[in-house]
Amino acid sequence: MGKRSVKKFDSLKTLAISVAKTISNKLNSFTAEKGSANIALSGGSTPQLYLERLSKVFAKWQKVHIFWCDERCVPPNNAESNYNTIKENFLQLIDIPSINIHRIRGEDEPEAEAERYSYEILDWVPVENGLPLFDLILLGVGADGHTASIFPDRMDLFESERICAAAVQPITGQKRITLTGSVINNAKNIFMVVSGEEKAMIVKEILENENIDYPAGRINPVNGKLEWFLDKNAASMLHLK
Ligand code: 6PG
Repeated sequence: MGKRSVKKFDSLKTLAISVAKTISNKLNSFTAEKGSANIALSGGSTPQLYLERLSKVFAKWQKVHIFWCDERCVPPNNAESNYNTIKENFLQLIDIPSINIHRIRGEDEPEAEAERYSYEILDWVPVENGLPLFDLILLGVGADGHTASIFPDRMDLFESERICAAAVQPITGQKRITLTGSVINNAKNIFMVVSGEEKAMIVKEILENENIDYPAGRINPVNGKLEWFLDKNAASMLHLK
């Protein structure tokens, strides 16, 4: 297992400032070290807290390639689209070449797109241990313990040799495309950014009870570093030292 840290913040503001600064520091070191950086972003509402701040503290976007951890199978202009959310709340705030933006085509047939996106990743992201090696993967956690679009009924995606897979949101039946758990755990750095009272129980299960029956509990980088960033509400059931 790689290294793991857990940080708790008293407000969403201090959480967002710290996450944005830490992302910026990572991007600066990767772009200085190797001239480029490959990151994968998640959807949902939490990323909007820190991406807006990140747009203010980092500027060398011509060296950064942005990928998605997952996507809903809807058109790119649909309000449900993770690409649409991140475009509206982040991409429009930064000066980044369009060639550096690697969206998952949610409008296409899921299995075919999972295959196509896997090859797009291989075109840009170096391989280590037989899988793409992202520099930084930014994840959230659902109250059901999902992360990316790996839901509790798809723990097989942590043993998969595939890069991307088609998945289904078990409650809504919405089709998804997701990075596999194998690719996520191959990353150099993984940030789990979690906020809200409704996540307190799952955060306790994962961080205190070491419960690995949930996808977010199986996030365990093989060689990389795992950093949890929690607001006080998400951390409210933890007995942090
Ligand atoms: C998605 C996300 C998903 C998200 C969690 C947490 O497509 O919805 O990738 O995995 O990270 O649901 O979402 P919040 O950050 O909004 O709580």
